[in-house]
Amino acid sequence: MCGIVGCTGSEPVRDILISGLKRLEYRGYDSAGIAVQQPGSEKLTVVHRVGKVAGLESEVANQEILGTCGIGHTRWATHGRPSTANAHPHTSCAGDIAVVHNGIIENFAELREELIGRGHTFTSETDTEVLAHLIEEAYEGAPDGTGAAEATHDLLRAVRRAVRRVVGAYGIAVVCAQEPGVIVTTRKDSPIVVGRGETASYVASDIIALIDATRDVVVLEDGESAKLTPEGITYYNEAGAEIEPHVTHVDWDLDIAEKGGYPDFMLKEIHEQPRVVRDTLAGRMVGGELAIDELGLTYEELNLVDRVYVIACGTSYHAGLIAKNLIERWARIPTEVEAASEFRYRDPIITTSTLVVAVSQSGETADTLAAIRDARIKGAKVFGITNVIGSPVARESDGVIYTKANKEIAVASTKSFIGQVVSLTLLALSLAQAKGRLTTGQVRMLFSELGDTAEQIQWILDTQGPAIDEAAEAMKDAPSALFVGRGIASAICYEGALKLKEISYLHAEAYAAGEMKHGPIALIDPGFPVITVATQSPVYDKTVSNLKECEARGAKIIAVATEGDEDIKKIADHVIYVPRVRDCFTPITATVPLQLLARSVALLRGCDVDQPRNLAKSVTVE
Ligand code: F6R
Repeated sequence: MCGIVGCTGSEPVRDILISGLKRLEYRGYDSAGIAVQQPGSEKLTVVHRVGKVAGLESEVANQEILGTCGIGHTRWATHGRPSTANAHPHTSCAGDIAVVHNGIIENFAELREELIGRGHTFTSETDTEVLAHLIEEAYEGAPDGTGAAEATHDLLRAVRRAVRRVVGAYGIAVVCAQEPGVIVTTRKDSPIVVGRGETASYVASDIIALIDATRDVVVLEDGESAKLTPEGITYYNEAGAEIEPHVTHVDWDLDIAEKGGYPDFMLKEIHEQPRVVRDTLAGRMVGGELAIDELGLTYEELNLVDRVYVIACGTSYHAGLIAKNLIERWARIPTEVEAASEFRYRDPIITTSTLVVAVSQSGETADTLAAIRDARIKGAKVFGITNVIGSPVARESDGVIYTKANKEIAVASTKSFIGQVVSLTLLALSLAQAKGRLTTGQVRMLFSELGDTAEQIQWILDTQGPAIDEAAEAMKDAPSALFVGRGIASAICYEGALKLKEISYLHAEAYAAGEMKHGPIALIDPGFPVITVATQSPVYDKTVSNLKECEARGAKIIAVATEGDEDIKKIADHVIYVPRVRDCFTPITATVPLQLLARSVALLRGCDVDQPRNLAKSVTVE
């Protein structure tokens, strides 16, 4: 969703801010802006507009913006429609304080009314603007002396005083014309990272905006603040006392934010999946034993687990469906998968022997975080599966597995999903071993087959492109499509349908194939695309029977099938092959052609596969 970047140094910051905002584009946004201190001026230059960062870049290219300290923002509308007026940065009445903000200020309506009553003029519909006015009051003292203490004339103190009035979530960066070279930042429930480059200090809401400048970053904790100047950065705790920061080194490849020769990030990330499997498994089998030290639970504690909830959203939820299948299959522990947005508002049965597994690529999804907090209050142990080091999900869970997907830029999750499924498979194996349901020998054999999927994905990537493109061509003009499969393949179909609809805007639904004749089959008429995962499994014949019912009604069938299955060609119009794997590992292989199919259809329909409309990479609001 929204993104923050800020820099103060000795060089003009305009282009640094624009390139930082470009790094944040993947998060999804509808407008963007910057605020820069102009040398020798008592005001700030603020430029904000609706649309892409490229538009902002052209607008500022011809302006004389020479300041060496500034902040920038990409906004994903929550309070107030996408418009130039609502785009950040937002300024105080005098125009000398500018704020960029991620998060939601829940009591903004009441604060706004109060501030208007004290003579402040608002120029936007956003919740953020109240912060600019609150900071202004704390800096200058309230105009009529009500509701605020004396003027601080100190940006750090003013920011710290202003945020005390705020209920909700915020990560903010603030500049003030009267304090040249100073950026103040603070956070609550919304990430802020700070880093020192060779000659400048940087702030951002996401490490990716800083990696060109530094690999050593400080992730602020809730309530902490930092004051950045060209010379350095000072950190403060919630009480305002100076603190020593905890520095995290980021070892991502420099090309992480580049397409590396691929036409789009999505294709690049799909091609990274063999590496993701290998990296996620690296170091997990030590001396013939499964090694997941980060679990935070002993085998004895795992043995006591009598119920598992997997909570997640979207693609991560689909990874959860696969986990349910594996945990119940191997460990025989009843497992429920719930959308985090539902889990948090009902009263799930949780005891101290309940294990809650929270799955989140970004580690900052608001609903998943709220569900984690709720589960912990009720006494459950929470285990996080996330891709982002130091993310809220990682920090708030009792144990965590990092998926080693590395930064994912395309909005649609691909490599993160594979990393999640592999990590959840490891968790299922650990639970099974702790419960004594699988022997060490069985675990070793399954682990070795899990590792083989890296090569098997590579085979799909190397050989199935033409078949996938043909299938995409055949369905690209359809108004709707159905994905059907049985058993673990139905979970793959849910993910395939989500991928297709989110990036190609072609309506798609997934059903357990046995459900077809209970309703969805009414949709089938000649040419209607039915995409199926019909790989070899105990329910293969049943799936084929369901496909025959679709075929009889004229459906155009696109099948993902096991290499060597020639029979499937009798009913399928298009066949995409995947290597033969044990049924439980099909999600790791058979999802890959569905990702590629969605991408091909999207491209044929002229869609932007990396940044689909209306979507954000990190959903940090409810
Ligand atoms: C779909 C997609 C989303 C996310 C969902 C949860 O491709 O990416 O459905 O999976 O928003 O996000 P995380 O995993 O970051 O909690």
